[in-house]
Amino acid sequence: MLHREKLERPDYVYPADEWRMVEKRFYPRLLAQNETFFSTANGYLGMRGCFDEGTPCFSNGTFVNGFYESWPIVYGEEAYGFARTGQTIVNVTDATIIKLYVDDEPFYLPTANLVDFERVLDMQHGTLHRDLLWETPAGKVVSIKSRRLVSFEHRHLAAITYEVTVLNAGAPLTISSEMVYRHGAKNDDGDPRRHRGFAERALHPQQNYSKDRRVVLSHATKRSQMTLACGVEHSVATECSYSVETRCSEDEAKVVFSVAAQPGESFRITKFIAYHTSRSAPVAELCERTERTLDRAARQGFEELRQGQRRYVDAFWKRSDVEIRGDTSLQQAIRFNLFHILQATARAEGVGVPAKGLTGEGYEGHYFWDTEIYVLPFLTYTEPRIARNLLKFRHSMLDKARQRAREVNQKGALFPWRTINGEEASAYYAAGTAQYHINADIVYALRKYVNATGDNEFLYEVGADMLVETARLWRDLGFYSERKNGQFCIAGVTGPDEYNTVVNNNTYTNLMARENLWYAAATIETLRDKRRVRYQALVDRTGLEPHEVDEWKEAAASMYLPYDEKRGIHPQDDDFLDRRPWDFENTPPDKYPLLLHHHPLVIYRHQVIKQADVVMAMFLLGDEFSMEEKQRNFDFYDPITTGDSSLSACIQSIEACEVRRIEKAFEYSRYALLMDLADIGGNAADGCHIASMGGTWMVVVYGLAGFRDYGGRFRFGPIPPARAEEIRFPLTLRGQILDVALGREGITYTLREGDGLTIWHFDEEIRLSPEDPSCSREHAEA
Ligand code: BGC
Repeated sequence: MLHREKLERPDYVYPADEWRMVEKRFYPRLLAQNETFFSTANGYLGMRGCFDEGTPCFSNGTFVNGFYESWPIVYGEEAYGFARTGQTIVNVTDATIIKLYVDDEPFYLPTANLVDFERVLDMQHGTLHRDLLWETPAGKVVSIKSRRLVSFEHRHLAAITYEVTVLNAGAPLTISSEMVYRHGAKNDDGDPRRHRGFAERALHPQQNYSKDRRVVLSHATKRSQMTLACGVEHSVATECSYSVETRCSEDEAKVVFSVAAQPGESFRITKFIAYHTSRSAPVAELCERTERTLDRAARQGFEELRQGQRRYVDAFWKRSDVEIRGDTSLQQAIRFNLFHILQATARAEGVGVPAKGLTGEGYEGHYFWDTEIYVLPFLTYTEPRIARNLLKFRHSMLDKARQRAREVNQKGALFPWRTINGEEASAYYAAGTAQYHINADIVYALRKYVNATGDNEFLYEVGADMLVETARLWRDLGFYSERKNGQFCIAGVTGPDEYNTVVNNNTYTNLMARENLWYAAATIETLRDKRRVRYQALVDRTGLEPHEVDEWKEAAASMYLPYDEKRGIHPQDDDFLDRRPWDFENTPPDKYPLLLHHHPLVIYRHQVIKQADVVMAMFLLGDEFSMEEKQRNFDFYDPITTGDSSLSACIQSIEACEVRRIEKAFEYSRYALLMDLADIGGNAADGCHIASMGGTWMVVVYGLAGFRDYGGRFRFGPIPPARAEEIRFPLTLRGQILDVALGREGITYTLREGDGLTIWHFDEEIRLSPEDPSCSREHAEA
């Protein structure tokens, strides 16, 4: 149950529009969240949607994925094996700023007399626009148009055009295009979802220089020893006469255009912005790379970049769009979610997906299980290449995970609960390190990817090592308990639900670990029997002993799962049912999320849940529960699940669909869909909830269309959509594209591309082929 005030979508702020998020007025109250929503990013580089002029501003933010500074975690009381190195994404040099002065009067949005204002995140073109008309106190009417893009095609590049026209008079204009590195302040507000900030500067100046209208500033971090160069170049289009002056110092640079504007004549600058970062390259080299990026961009010009952007985004929508017929506002919200996933992942090469993408500093730019369980399903079924990159990135952290397993006295590998550089960065072990399920989540995503794509080579080349090491960890972590009839138990772990920590036999963890062990054993046996050379190489890399595989199988076969006969449910862990019920009746809506109002111990001793846990397992491993079990579990857990994590509502919606609690399914789906737009968590200012955005796609595909992919079998079990007349989406399955159209009367499956595909509609097998590409079925009676 969601213990929240009524949900409202602020339609008056963002009028319904299929492809665009449009803001028609400037709402100071929504300044912070709009900076998040109007962010532009490409998975490598991200810029919050702050106004070009730099003010007013809640939090300027430019981020490079994986560019962080580390810091020693200081504990009041130390203990062996605690995580040592905190990592925080750095808010890097801000190159977005373009200040405007007309008759030497600064343009300042909050006090300006705005005749017209429109800001648009154009999700079809991949650009951010702002058009406004300002009447100066002297009666001059100034048109200001800006266009911003962070290029999907050119990973290191962003560009802004800024065009000023004084419509009814001549005037001296000053346009100051700036770059600045500001070191922020430490943040001590006690909200663990926010970022901590740095007490001292994170970036230390290295080279800085200017050449005509070009400036390059470079910096390095001290502890993580990363290097960064940021450069800008300008081109001008105008009939007006102007002069230029360039200045730069260590943390700041300005290219100032002084223009004699004629009535109706426009002055337009295009600012090309490039970032290069490295863990090893010296700054001088990064500066060179930056200049090369700028040279090429300036040669191409903005228009060509814009067209390239459009092509990229077109291709994205072709393979990933969810079309909603008959409800524009729903359509907009879905596309908003999908577009932000694109922005968080498109060029995330050799890095992960931060919990907030690159839209804010919330959760410090860390990578969590959010990537594998919430974002990868979307990518696996729409852009498997990116899913593969992300799995490969996890694999690149395997050595650190091995090291971490040793630190916590275990064999195999333990992936960090939260991290940027592969080291565990969670300073609160109970809700951090203890979430060993991250290992199984990664393996789950790997299996899903392999089943969906048939990319066995990836499994054998890259996945196998992760399988060996994660299986080893589980085998070593668990034990055969006499008190549980010799079954294999896993004690002292935390499941997905962070309101019950360090528990014994978390059902989710045991189920997922079992799956992990099975998959590891089956894969290694196939390799051993069919790919001898690969197998030998794997043995060589991992020191695998033949008896290990048998041990994994034995542990999986004896895995203990808590079960309560009386209720016919799976308790979340061994002691869950012994805890005290939470007094929901006397907890007013403003006391949620509970974590901001109660000591963790108070929460831990109650039967209260932050986010889907057993219900999550029912979704991920649905073929291991009967429908009756699912219904009983759902009905038991639903009333005690607060949804205090944004990761919950989507999963609750999917399972409500499955157990046919239809009204709840739609209610939760709205929460998932509007998690950001309606600012349900009250923290949209700190960045988008990327996991929930991925969850929104899952609600459509796994919830409404009832798609399931257990064991590589593609099965649908749809229910009619409520508000929409029809929902259409494509899935990439084994390199083929299947279009699904879900209507009120029934569902149609069409093979758009490919040489033949077998799918299931409930238990009916359907074969689609180029000759016979389409098949429709009516909805079953409720
Ligand atoms: C959730 C985690 C999640 C993290 C980052 C927390 O509030 O409980 O499951 O991984 O946020 O999104």
